[in-house]
Amino acid sequence: MSIVLIVTDRDVKLLQRHIEAELRGATPVWIYPHIPKPEWVEMAVVWKHPPRVLRAFPNLELVSSLGAGVEHILHDATLPAGLRITRIVDESLTTSMRNYVLMAVLNIHKQLRFYQNNQQEGRWEKPAHIELPLRIGMLGLGALGGSIAASLASLGFEALGYSQSPKNISGVRCLHAGEATLAGFVRQVNLLICLLPRTAATEGILNYDLFRHMPKGSFLINVARGAHLEEEGLLKAMQEGYIREAWLDVFKEEPLPKEHPFWQHPGIVITPHAASITNQENAAKIIAENYRRWKEGKELLFEVDRKKGY
Ligand code: GLV
Repeated sequence: MSIVLIVTDRDVKLLQRHIEAELRGATPVWIYPHIPKPEWVEMAVVWKHPPRVLRAFPNLELVSSLGAGVEHILHDATLPAGLRITRIVDESLTTSMRNYVLMAVLNIHKQLRFYQNNQQEGRWEKPAHIELPLRIGMLGLGALGGSIAASLASLGFEALGYSQSPKNISGVRCLHAGEATLAGFVRQVNLLICLLPRTAATEGILNYDLFRHMPKGSFLINVARGAHLEEEGLLKAMQEGYIREAWLDVFKEEPLPKEHPFWQHPGIVITPHAASITNQENAAKIIAENYRRWKEGKELLFEVDRKKGY
């Protein structure tokens, strides 16, 4: 029996080698589209897979995302019913995301862009405040958001978090949907970070209506999904002064089209969906472990609740 890797945006030969080694060479790992025996395939590892492709494997039982997000799997209308879905939760993915977020937060806090702009003109000038006072709101307190909010708190930042269900994170004032509205939450912060999963309920959650509840001159960091952000709404909120600066790693359309207004916007910092990328060696361990667990009828690691969408 075998595992297939259907990953269309990067080379996964390293992943293939590591999964095969983890499973001691007993299970062939094939890279799509070279699949000698589709009927052998029991597990698929996917990222940006072509539509309907999973239908080609009559004995497929298990699908793993190659990343933290799984909406690309759940949005596949041809997804066979009853498939079990897992994702990657890995310390190196979390660390890498944490470092990106810290880099952005510290840049904002220490106003690096102010100095960079001054340097262009050879201007020696201190800002009115050497450090901007930040009240940081983390949207989403899962494996990534929860751990990063705790790190921000441990650096001495005032950190608040908002999630669907109640959470308890040391140093973080956690609010949840049952006790506080999102508008009430963002009113209390001047830097909003989005690390939500993409689901039908979270699409477009970062919109003008939300931004106008934030204090004027606020900041935004979106490292979750482009679909969370209403792009026109951000531009309007920036024009009206609600949002002063936005750090964006993810976009509705990727690569971000050349003519997109974000590129030239003086208040927007763009990175190309590079905040945190799955480490293939670590992912191979989780994928192989889940394959073994599934074979032995054991509980799977990081299994996704198809109804909740994460
Ligand atoms: C990356 O975007 C991921 O979901 O891991």
